[in-house]
Amino acid sequence: MPDNVHIKYLLNEDEMPRTWYNIMADLPKPPPAVLHPGTHQPVGPDDLAPLFPMALIMQEVSTEPYIEIPEPVRQVYNQWRPTPLFRARRLEKALDTPARIYYKYEGVSPVGSHKPNTAVAQAFYNQQEGVKKLSTETGAGQWGSALAMAGAFFGIDVEIFMVKISYQQKPYRRSIMQAYGATVHASPTNLTDAGRSILAQDPENMGSLGIAISEAVEVAAKSGGTTKYSLGSVLNHVLLHQTIIGEEALLQMEKAGDYPDVVIGCVGGGSNFSGLAFPFVGQMLRKGLKTRFLAAEPMACPSLTKGIYAYDFGDTVGMTPLVKMHTLGHDFMPPGIHAGGLRYHGMAPVVSLLHEEGIIDAQAYHQNAVFEASVLFARSEGIIPAPEAGHAVRAVVDEALKAKESGKEQVILFNLSGHGHFDMAAYDAYFAGKLQDFEYPAEAVAAAQQRMPQVV
Ligand SMILES: Cc1ncc(COP(=O)(O)O)c(C=O)c1O
Repeated sequence: MPDNVHIKYLLNEDEMPRTWYNIMADLPKPPPAVLHPGTHQPVGPDDLAPLFPMALIMQEVSTEPYIEIPEPVRQVYNQWRPTPLFRARRLEKALDTPARIYYKYEGVSPVGSHKPNTAVAQAFYNQQEGVKKLSTETGAGQWGSALAMAGAFFGIDVEIFMVKISYQQKPYRRSIMQAYGATVHASPTNLTDAGRSILAQDPENMGSLGIAISEAVEVAAKSGGTTKYSLGSVLNHVLLHQTIIGEEALLQMEKAGDYPDVVIGCVGGGSNFSGLAFPFVGQMLRKGLKTRFLAAEPMACPSLTKGIYAYDFGDTVGMTPLVKMHTLGHDFMPPGIHAGGLRYHGMAPVVSLLHEEGIIDAQAYHQNAVFEASVLFARSEGIIPAPEAGHAVRAVVDEALKAKESGKEQVILFNLSGHGHFDMAAYDAYFAGKLQDFEYPAEAVAAAQQRMPQVV
Protein backbone atom coordinates (compact mmCIF):
# COMPACT_ATOMS: atom_id res chain seq x y z
CA MET A 1 0.00 0.00 0.00
CA PRO A 2 1.25 3.50 -0.72
CA ASP A 3 2.29 5.56 2.31
CA ASN A 4 0.15 8.48 3.37
CA VAL A 5 2.66 11.31 3.59
CA HIS A 6 4.51 11.77 0.32
CA ILE A 7 3.28 14.11 -2.35
CA LYS A 8 6.33 14.11 -4.63
CA TYR A 9 8.21 11.25 -6.26
CA LEU A 10 11.52 12.33 -7.74
CA LEU A 11 14.26 10.61 -9.71
CA ASN A 12 17.92 11.64 -9.62
CA GLU A 13 19.60 12.95 -12.76
CA ASP A 14 21.34 9.61 -13.29
CA GLU A 15 18.08 7.70 -12.88
CA MET A 16 16.66 9.37 -16.00
CA PRO A 17 15.89 6.63 -18.55
CA ARG A 18 18.52 6.31 -21.29
CA THR A 19 16.11 5.18 -24.00
CA TRP A 20 12.84 6.24 -25.58
CA TYR A 21 10.16 3.57 -25.90
CA ASN A 22 8.97 2.75 -29.42
CA ILE A 23 5.42 1.44 -29.40
CA MET A 24 5.77 0.32 -33.03
CA ALA A 25 7.45 -2.82 -31.67
CA ASP A 26 4.34 -3.83 -29.71
CA LEU A 27 1.41 -2.69 -31.87
CA PRO A 28 -1.36 -5.28 -32.31
CA LYS A 29 -1.15 -4.69 -36.06
CA PRO A 30 1.12 -2.61 -38.29
CA PRO A 31 -0.05 0.95 -38.99
CA PRO A 32 -1.39 1.69 -42.50
CA ALA A 33 1.24 2.91 -44.97
CA VAL A 34 1.96 6.62 -45.39
CA LEU A 35 1.07 7.60 -48.99
CA HIS A 36 2.48 10.05 -51.51
CA PRO A 37 0.00 12.97 -51.89
CA GLY A 38 0.10 12.79 -55.70
CA THR A 39 0.47 9.10 -56.58
CA HIS A 40 -1.19 7.60 -53.46
CA GLN A 41 1.66 5.05 -53.42
CA PRO A 42 3.52 4.29 -50.15
CA VAL A 43 6.31 6.80 -49.49
CA GLY A 44 9.87 5.69 -48.83
CA PRO A 45 12.67 7.42 -46.88
CA ASP A 46 13.85 9.27 -50.01
CA ASP A 47 10.44 10.93 -50.45
CA LEU A 48 10.72 12.37 -46.95
CA ALA A 49 14.39 13.43 -47.25
CA PRO A 50 13.64 17.00 -48.45
CA LEU A 51 11.75 17.60 -45.20
CA PHE A 52 13.50 15.66 -42.45
CA PRO A 53 17.03 14.50 -41.58
CA MET A 54 17.62 10.78 -42.22
CA ALA A 55 18.01 9.96 -38.50
CA LEU A 56 14.44 11.13 -37.85
CA ILE A 57 13.09 9.38 -40.97
CA MET A 58 14.64 6.14 -39.68
CA GLN A 59 13.03 6.69 -36.27
CA GLU A 60 9.72 7.31 -38.04
CA VAL A 61 9.76 3.78 -39.47
CA SER A 62 11.76 1.97 -36.77
CA THR A 63 10.36 -1.12 -35.04
CA GLU A 64 13.15 -1.31 -32.45
CA PRO A 65 11.47 -1.37 -29.02
CA TYR A 66 13.96 1.02 -27.40
CA ILE A 67 15.99 3.80 -28.99
CA GLU A 68 18.94 5.33 -27.20
CA ILE A 69 18.71 9.01 -26.25
CA PRO A 70 21.92 10.68 -27.53
CA GLU A 71 24.17 12.12 -24.81
CA PRO A 72 23.86 15.80 -25.95
CA VAL A 73 20.05 15.47 -25.79
CA ARG A 74 20.26 13.87 -22.34
CA GLN A 75 22.40 16.77 -21.16
CA VAL A 76 19.81 19.33 -22.19
CA TYR A 77 16.98 17.19 -20.78
CA ASN A 78 18.80 17.10 -17.45
CA GLN A 79 18.26 20.83 -16.99
CA TRP A 80 14.63 20.08 -16.04
CA ARG A 81 14.31 16.29 -16.26
CA PRO A 82 13.45 13.97 -14.63
CA THR A 83 10.26 15.94 -14.06
CA PRO A 84 8.36 15.43 -10.79
CA LEU A 85 5.48 13.04 -10.27
CA PHE A 86 3.05 14.47 -7.74
CA ARG A 87 0.29 12.86 -5.72
CA ALA A 88 -2.64 15.32 -5.82
CA ARG A 89 -3.61 14.80 -2.19
CA ARG A 90 -5.32 18.18 -1.76
CA LEU A 91 -7.34 17.67 -4.95
CA GLU A 92 -8.35 14.21 -3.70
CA LYS A 93 -9.50 15.83 -0.47
CA ALA A 94 -11.38 18.61 -2.25
CA LEU A 95 -13.23 15.97 -4.29
CA ASP A 96 -13.66 13.71 -1.26
CA THR A 97 -12.75 10.77 -3.47
CA PRO A 98 -11.26 7.37 -2.66
CA ALA A 99 -9.29 7.67 -5.92
CA ARG A 100 -5.52 8.17 -5.70
CA ILE A 101 -4.56 10.84 -8.23
CA TYR A 102 -1.00 11.21 -9.56
CA TYR A 103 0.26 13.69 -12.11
CA LYS A 104 3.43 14.05 -14.09
CA TYR A 105 4.27 17.74 -14.35
CA GLU A 106 5.87 18.85 -17.63
CA GLY A 107 5.46 22.57 -16.91
CA VAL A 108 8.92 22.67 -15.27
CA SER A 109 10.71 22.92 -18.64
CA PRO A 110 12.11 26.39 -19.44
CA VAL A 111 9.23 27.10 -21.85
CA GLY A 112 6.59 25.63 -19.55
CA SER A 113 5.43 22.55 -21.46
CA HIS A 114 6.37 19.06 -22.70
CA LYS A 115 7.26 20.37 -26.18
CA PRO A 116 11.06 20.63 -25.65
CA ASN A 117 11.28 16.83 -25.21
CA THR A 118 11.05 16.51 -28.99
CA ALA A 119 12.26 20.00 -29.99
CA VAL A 120 15.67 19.34 -28.44
CA ALA A 121 15.96 15.90 -30.05
CA GLN A 122 14.89 17.24 -33.47
CA ALA A 123 17.32 20.17 -33.32
CA PHE A 124 20.13 17.77 -32.35
CA TYR A 125 19.55 15.33 -35.24
CA ASN A 126 19.22 18.19 -37.73
CA GLN A 127 22.46 19.76 -36.51
CA GLN A 128 24.22 16.37 -36.86
CA GLU A 129 23.26 16.34 -40.54
CA GLY A 130 24.42 19.90 -41.19
CA VAL A 131 21.00 21.54 -41.41
CA LYS A 132 21.24 25.33 -40.98
CA LYS A 133 17.62 26.26 -40.58
CA LEU A 134 14.31 24.73 -39.42
CA SER A 135 10.88 25.91 -40.49
CA THR A 136 7.81 25.14 -38.45
CA GLU A 137 4.27 26.23 -37.56
CA THR A 138 2.86 27.16 -34.20
CA GLY A 139 -0.64 27.82 -32.93
CA ALA A 140 -0.58 29.66 -29.66
CA GLY A 141 3.22 29.51 -29.48
CA GLN A 142 4.08 26.64 -27.11
CA TRP A 143 5.67 24.57 -29.84
CA GLY A 144 7.29 27.57 -31.53
CA SER A 145 8.97 28.66 -28.31
CA ALA A 146 10.24 25.12 -27.63
CA LEU A 147 11.79 24.81 -31.09
CA ALA A 148 13.17 28.36 -30.93
CA MET A 149 14.94 27.47 -27.66
CA ALA A 150 16.25 24.17 -29.04
CA GLY A 151 17.49 25.96 -32.17
CA ALA A 152 19.40 28.42 -29.98
CA PHE A 153 21.04 25.52 -28.11
CA PHE A 154 22.18 23.73 -31.29
CA GLY A 155 23.02 26.76 -33.47
CA ILE A 156 20.12 26.39 -35.93
CA ASP A 157 18.02 29.29 -37.26
CA VAL A 158 14.29 28.81 -36.71
CA GLU A 159 11.57 30.32 -38.92
CA ILE A 160 8.08 30.08 -37.48
CA PHE A 161 4.68 30.49 -39.14
CA MET A 162 2.34 31.46 -36.32
CA VAL A 163 -1.44 31.29 -36.78
CA LYS A 164 -2.42 34.93 -37.40
CA ILE A 165 -5.14 35.19 -34.79
CA SER A 166 -2.71 34.06 -32.06
CA TYR A 167 0.03 36.32 -33.46
CA GLN A 168 -2.29 39.26 -32.98
CA GLN A 169 -3.92 38.20 -29.72
CA LYS A 170 -0.82 36.81 -27.96
CA PRO A 171 2.03 39.23 -28.71
CA TYR A 172 4.15 38.03 -25.78
CA ARG A 173 4.29 34.49 -27.15
CA ARG A 174 5.87 35.99 -30.24
CA SER A 175 8.33 37.90 -28.02
CA ILE A 176 9.37 34.66 -26.32
CA MET A 177 10.21 33.08 -29.67
CA GLN A 178 12.08 36.21 -30.70
CA ALA A 179 14.01 36.21 -27.40
CA TYR A 180 15.36 32.79 -28.39
CA GLY A 181 16.37 34.23 -31.79
CA ALA A 182 13.60 32.85 -34.03
CA THR A 183 11.91 34.71 -36.91
CA VAL A 184 8.11 34.73 -36.56
CA HIS A 185 5.53 35.44 -39.29
CA ALA A 186 1.77 35.82 -38.99
CA SER A 187 0.31 33.03 -41.15
CA PRO A 188 -1.13 33.12 -43.83
CA THR A 189 1.74 35.22 -45.24
CA ASN A 190 2.64 36.55 -48.66
CA LEU A 191 5.96 34.69 -48.44
CA THR A 192 4.77 31.32 -49.80
CA ASP A 193 2.56 30.07 -52.62
CA ALA A 194 0.42 28.33 -50.00
CA GLY A 195 -0.11 31.56 -48.04
CA ARG A 196 -0.73 33.62 -51.17
CA SER A 197 -3.34 31.15 -52.46
CA ILE A 198 -5.24 31.26 -49.17
CA LEU A 199 -5.10 35.08 -49.06
CA ALA A 200 -6.25 35.33 -52.68
CA GLN A 201 -9.44 33.45 -51.72
CA ASP A 202 -9.87 35.17 -48.37
CA PRO A 203 -7.73 38.26 -47.63
CA GLU A 204 -9.03 38.38 -44.03
CA ASN A 205 -8.12 34.76 -43.26
CA MET A 206 -6.95 34.53 -39.63
CA GLY A 207 -5.01 31.32 -40.14
CA SER A 208 -5.09 27.76 -38.87
CA LEU A 209 -2.50 25.17 -37.94
CA GLY A 210 -3.15 23.39 -41.25
CA ILE A 211 -2.34 26.55 -43.23
CA ALA A 212 0.77 27.34 -41.16
CA ILE A 213 2.00 23.76 -41.75
CA SER A 214 1.54 24.22 -45.53
CA GLU A 215 3.69 27.36 -45.41
CA ALA A 216 6.43 25.83 -43.26
CA VAL A 217 6.58 22.65 -45.39
CA GLU A 218 6.84 24.74 -48.56
CA VAL A 219 9.78 26.76 -47.19
CA ALA A 220 11.69 23.53 -46.45
CA ALA A 221 10.71 21.78 -49.69
CA LYS A 222 11.93 24.72 -51.80
CA SER A 223 15.16 25.38 -49.88
CA GLY A 224 17.35 22.96 -51.80
CA GLY A 225 18.26 21.10 -48.60
CA THR A 226 19.47 23.93 -46.36
CA THR A 227 16.18 24.15 -44.47
CA LYS A 228 14.30 21.20 -43.02
CA TYR A 229 10.82 21.11 -41.58
CA SER A 230 10.00 20.31 -37.98
CA LEU A 231 6.64 19.21 -36.60
CA GLY A 232 5.73 19.38 -32.91
CA SER A 233 3.20 16.54 -32.72
CA VAL A 234 1.45 13.76 -34.69
CA LEU A 235 4.48 11.99 -36.26
CA ASN A 236 5.86 8.73 -34.87
CA HIS A 237 9.27 10.19 -34.04
CA VAL A 238 7.66 13.06 -32.08
CA LEU A 239 5.60 10.62 -30.02
CA LEU A 240 8.74 8.52 -29.52
CA HIS A 241 10.70 11.47 -28.06
CA GLN A 242 7.84 12.24 -25.68
CA THR A 243 7.95 8.73 -24.16
CA ILE A 244 10.66 9.96 -21.79
CA ILE A 245 7.62 11.18 -19.78
CA GLY A 246 6.07 7.73 -19.37
CA GLU A 247 9.41 5.95 -18.96
CA GLU A 248 10.11 8.20 -15.97
CA ALA A 249 6.56 7.80 -14.68
CA LEU A 250 6.89 3.99 -14.69
CA LEU A 251 9.86 4.31 -12.30
CA GLN A 252 8.14 6.95 -10.19
CA MET A 253 4.93 4.96 -9.81
CA GLU A 254 7.11 2.11 -8.62
CA LYS A 255 8.62 4.45 -6.00
CA ALA A 256 5.09 5.40 -5.01
CA GLY A 257 4.23 1.70 -4.65
CA ASP A 258 1.22 2.12 -6.93
CA TYR A 259 0.16 1.38 -10.52
CA PRO A 260 -2.47 3.29 -12.53
CA ASP A 261 -5.87 1.82 -13.35
CA VAL A 262 -6.40 4.69 -15.75
CA VAL A 263 -3.92 6.92 -17.61
CA ILE A 264 -5.22 10.26 -18.89
CA GLY A 265 -3.88 13.01 -21.13
CA CYS A 266 -5.21 15.79 -23.34
CA VAL A 267 -4.87 15.40 -27.09
CA GLY A 268 -4.22 17.95 -29.81
CA GLY A 269 -2.04 15.99 -32.20
CA GLY A 270 -1.48 13.33 -29.54
CA SER A 271 2.11 13.81 -28.40
CA ASN A 272 1.92 14.49 -24.65
CA PHE A 273 -0.78 11.87 -24.19
CA SER A 274 1.30 9.28 -26.06
CA GLY A 275 4.42 10.35 -24.20
CA LEU A 276 2.87 9.39 -20.88
CA ALA A 277 0.59 6.59 -22.03
CA PHE A 278 2.64 4.54 -24.52
CA PRO A 279 5.10 3.06 -22.01
CA PHE A 280 2.06 1.94 -19.96
CA VAL A 281 0.31 0.65 -23.11
CA GLY A 282 3.48 -1.35 -23.80
CA GLN A 283 3.34 -2.84 -20.28
CA MET A 284 -0.31 -3.73 -20.80
CA LEU A 285 0.26 -5.36 -24.20
CA ARG A 286 3.27 -7.33 -23.00
CA LYS A 287 2.06 -8.33 -19.55
CA GLY A 288 -1.68 -8.49 -20.10
CA LEU A 289 -2.37 -5.82 -17.45
CA LYS A 290 -5.78 -4.14 -17.33
CA THR A 291 -5.18 -0.41 -17.74
CA ARG A 292 -7.56 2.12 -19.27
CA PHE A 293 -6.27 4.93 -21.43
CA LEU A 294 -8.35 8.06 -21.83
CA ALA A 295 -7.64 10.85 -24.32
CA ALA A 296 -9.36 14.17 -23.50
CA GLU A 297 -10.21 16.58 -26.31
CA PRO A 298 -12.37 19.70 -26.87
CA MET A 299 -15.98 19.47 -28.05
CA ALA A 300 -15.07 22.31 -30.44
CA CYS A 301 -12.34 20.25 -32.16
CA PRO A 302 -13.27 16.60 -31.55
CA SER A 303 -10.99 14.69 -33.94
CA LEU A 304 -11.05 11.36 -32.04
CA THR A 305 -14.67 11.37 -30.93
CA LYS A 306 -16.24 12.80 -34.11
CA GLY A 307 -13.54 12.67 -36.76
CA ILE A 308 -13.47 10.09 -39.53
CA TYR A 309 -10.75 7.42 -39.63
CA ALA A 310 -9.49 8.02 -43.15
CA TYR A 311 -6.53 9.07 -45.24
CA ASP A 312 -6.08 12.82 -45.16
CA PHE A 313 -3.45 15.51 -45.55
CA GLY A 314 -1.61 16.80 -42.52
CA ASP A 315 -1.90 20.37 -43.85
CA THR A 316 -4.59 22.50 -45.47
CA VAL A 317 -3.17 23.05 -48.94
CA GLY A 318 -2.38 19.34 -49.48
CA MET A 319 1.42 19.25 -49.57
CA THR A 320 2.13 16.65 -46.89
CA PRO A 321 2.01 12.88 -47.36
CA LEU A 322 -1.36 11.23 -46.69
CA VAL A 323 -1.74 9.50 -43.35
CA LYS A 324 -4.59 7.40 -42.04
CA MET A 325 -5.90 9.12 -38.95
CA HIS A 326 -8.97 10.50 -37.24
CA THR A 327 -9.62 13.77 -39.03
CA LEU A 328 -12.14 16.59 -39.17
CA GLY A 329 -10.93 17.37 -42.70
CA HIS A 330 -7.72 19.15 -43.70
CA ASP A 331 -9.60 22.42 -44.37
CA PHE A 332 -11.00 22.51 -40.82
CA MET A 333 -11.13 26.04 -39.35
CA PRO A 334 -11.38 26.05 -35.56
CA PRO A 335 -14.23 28.13 -34.14
CA GLY A 336 -13.00 31.58 -33.07
CA ILE A 337 -14.69 31.37 -29.66
CA HIS A 338 -12.65 28.36 -28.61
CA ALA A 339 -10.07 29.30 -25.95
CA GLY A 340 -8.76 25.92 -24.90
CA GLY A 341 -6.19 25.10 -27.59
CA LEU A 342 -5.97 21.59 -29.14
CA ARG A 343 -7.13 22.92 -32.50
CA TYR A 344 -5.48 20.54 -35.00
CA HIS A 345 -7.78 18.80 -37.51
CA GLY A 346 -6.10 15.39 -37.29
CA MET A 347 -4.74 12.94 -34.73
CA ALA A 348 -1.48 11.02 -34.59
CA PRO A 349 -1.87 7.89 -36.79
CA VAL A 350 -0.70 5.59 -33.98
CA VAL A 351 -3.14 7.11 -31.45
CA SER A 352 -5.86 6.80 -34.12
CA LEU A 353 -4.98 3.14 -34.71
CA LEU A 354 -5.02 2.35 -30.98
CA HIS A 355 -8.39 4.10 -30.68
CA GLU A 356 -9.75 2.00 -33.57
CA GLU A 357 -8.39 -1.12 -31.83
CA GLY A 358 -10.26 -0.23 -28.63
CA ILE A 359 -7.07 0.29 -26.62
CA ILE A 360 -7.52 4.05 -26.18
CA ASP A 361 -10.84 5.66 -25.14
CA ALA A 362 -11.63 9.27 -25.96
CA GLN A 363 -13.94 11.83 -24.43
CA ALA A 364 -14.71 15.40 -25.51
CA TYR A 365 -15.31 18.26 -23.04
CA HIS A 366 -16.87 21.71 -23.21
CA GLN A 367 -14.54 24.58 -22.45
CA ASN A 368 -16.42 25.99 -19.45
CA ALA A 369 -16.23 22.59 -17.76
CA VAL A 370 -12.51 22.47 -18.57
CA PHE A 371 -11.83 25.86 -16.96
CA GLU A 372 -14.01 25.00 -13.97
CA ALA A 373 -11.88 21.91 -13.30
CA SER A 374 -8.66 23.84 -13.93
CA VAL A 375 -9.62 26.47 -11.35
CA LEU A 376 -10.40 23.75 -8.81
CA PHE A 377 -7.01 22.19 -9.58
CA ALA A 378 -5.21 25.55 -9.20
CA ARG A 379 -6.91 26.18 -5.85
CA SER A 380 -6.03 22.77 -4.49
CA GLU A 381 -2.65 21.98 -6.11
CA GLY A 382 -1.33 25.51 -6.73
CA ILE A 383 -0.39 24.95 -10.38
CA ILE A 384 -2.48 26.78 -12.98
CA PRO A 385 -2.95 24.29 -15.85
CA ALA A 386 -2.45 25.32 -19.47
CA PRO A 387 -5.94 25.28 -21.04
CA GLU A 388 -4.89 22.26 -23.16
CA ALA A 389 -3.88 20.35 -20.03
CA GLY A 390 -7.12 21.49 -18.42
CA HIS A 391 -8.95 18.97 -20.62
CA ALA A 392 -7.03 16.19 -18.88
CA VAL A 393 -7.81 17.77 -15.49
CA ARG A 394 -11.54 17.75 -16.35
CA ALA A 395 -11.35 14.08 -17.27
CA VAL A 396 -9.51 13.30 -14.03
CA VAL A 397 -12.06 15.16 -11.89
CA ASP A 398 -14.90 13.24 -13.58
CA GLU A 399 -13.12 9.91 -13.04
CA ALA A 400 -12.45 10.76 -9.38
CA LEU A 401 -16.11 11.70 -8.85
CA LYS A 402 -17.21 8.42 -10.45
CA ALA A 403 -14.86 6.60 -8.05
CA LYS A 404 -16.54 8.46 -5.19
CA GLU A 405 -19.97 7.33 -6.37
CA SER A 406 -18.93 3.71 -6.73
CA GLY A 407 -16.63 3.74 -3.68
CA LYS A 408 -13.84 2.29 -5.81
CA GLU A 409 -10.15 2.90 -5.01
CA GLN A 410 -9.19 4.01 -8.53
CA VAL A 411 -5.57 4.91 -9.22
CA ILE A 412 -5.48 7.75 -11.75
CA LEU A 413 -2.34 8.99 -13.47
CA PHE A 414 -2.39 12.01 -15.76
CA ASN A 415 -0.11 14.31 -17.65
CA LEU A 416 -0.14 17.96 -16.70
CA SER A 417 1.49 18.94 -19.99
CA GLY A 418 2.10 22.60 -19.17
CA HIS A 419 1.32 25.57 -16.96
CA GLY A 420 -1.09 28.29 -17.97
CA HIS A 421 0.92 31.40 -17.14
CA PHE A 422 0.79 32.54 -20.76
CA ASP A 423 -2.93 31.85 -21.02
CA MET A 424 -4.41 34.09 -18.38
CA ALA A 425 -6.46 35.95 -21.03
CA ALA A 426 -8.39 32.70 -21.55
CA TYR A 427 -8.90 32.40 -17.77
CA ASP A 428 -10.05 36.05 -17.74
CA ALA A 429 -12.63 35.26 -20.42
CA TYR A 430 -13.83 32.34 -18.30
CA PHE A 431 -14.10 34.47 -15.14
CA ALA A 432 -16.02 37.11 -17.10
CA GLY A 433 -18.50 34.48 -18.30
CA LYS A 434 -17.50 35.14 -21.90
CA LEU A 435 -16.63 31.58 -22.91
CA GLN A 436 -19.30 29.92 -25.01
CA ASP A 437 -19.55 26.16 -25.26
CA PHE A 438 -19.59 24.98 -28.83
CA GLU A 439 -20.08 21.48 -30.17
CA TYR A 440 -18.56 20.92 -33.59
CA PRO A 441 -21.42 19.68 -35.81
CA ALA A 442 -21.31 16.15 -37.21
CA GLU A 443 -22.68 17.56 -40.51
CA ALA A 444 -19.54 19.68 -40.92
CA VAL A 445 -17.40 16.54 -40.59
CA ALA A 446 -19.57 14.70 -43.12
CA ALA A 447 -19.23 17.64 -45.54
CA ALA A 448 -15.45 17.76 -45.03
CA GLN A 449 -15.25 14.06 -45.87
CA GLN A 450 -16.35 14.89 -49.42
CA ARG A 451 -13.25 17.07 -49.79
CA MET A 452 -10.81 14.49 -48.40
CA PRO A 453 -8.54 12.66 -50.88
CA GLN A 454 -10.25 9.53 -52.16
CA VAL A 455 -7.79 6.72 -51.56
CA VAL A 456 -8.74 3.40 -53.08
C1 LIG B 1 0.63 22.54 -22.90
C2 LIG B 1 0.13 21.78 -24.11
N1 LIG B 1 -0.48 20.61 -23.93
C3 LIG B 1 -0.93 19.91 -24.97
C4 LIG B 1 -0.81 20.34 -26.28
C5 LIG B 1 -1.37 19.51 -27.38
O1 LIG B 1 -0.43 18.90 -28.19
P1 LIG B 1 -0.17 17.35 -28.12
O2 LIG B 1 -1.48 16.64 -28.30
O3 LIG B 1 0.76 17.08 -29.24
O4 LIG B 1 0.46 17.06 -26.81
C6 LIG B 1 -0.18 21.57 -26.51
C7 LIG B 1 -0.08 22.04 -27.91
O5 LIG B 1 0.34 23.07 -28.25
C8 LIG B 1 0.31 22.30 -25.40
O6 LIG B 1 0.92 23.47 -25.59
